Amino acid sequence: SMELEMKNMELKVGDKLKIKGMILHDADRFQIDLGCNREDIALHLNPRFNDDLDGTVLVFNSMTAGCWGDEKREMLNTLQKGSEVKIVVKFSGDMFEVELPDEQEVQFPNREDMNLINYLRIRGDFKLVSFKIC
Ligand code: GAL
Repeated sequence: SMELEMKNMELKVGDKLKIKGMILHDADRFQIDLGCNREDIALHLNPRFNDDLDGTVLVFNSMTAGCWGDEKREMLNTLQKGSEVKIVVKFSGDMFEVELPDEQEVQFPNREDMNLINYLRIRGDFKLVSFKIC
């Protein structure tokens, strides 16, 4: 599993973050967090493959001052273990628009109205190939 933490990135309203990587063959979970720091996260995108409750599920949440908000669970998780994926997060200001394979799109609100995202963390059962902001 991997962990990447970046503290001085800049994702502004209108920007897209494109992430490519491999989901490990034996993946349990991975996550992509966008926010201000480890404890203030506007978007926690967390694909799970063996969740106790839902098995294969996409979990979304935010964290404020170290406390998780209410989870949003998307039961349709078409991500395949052992495959390369491209995940695009478009930051529209009010929303994060997450584009997944098979043209799946999930929206998650910018609950705390964060307008400058300068912290990125990618961790878990994922092998990052590339990422860019455009
Ligand atoms: C917790 C989990 C965290 C995070 C959070 C999202 O149960 O330990 O890593 O995924 O759920 O709500």
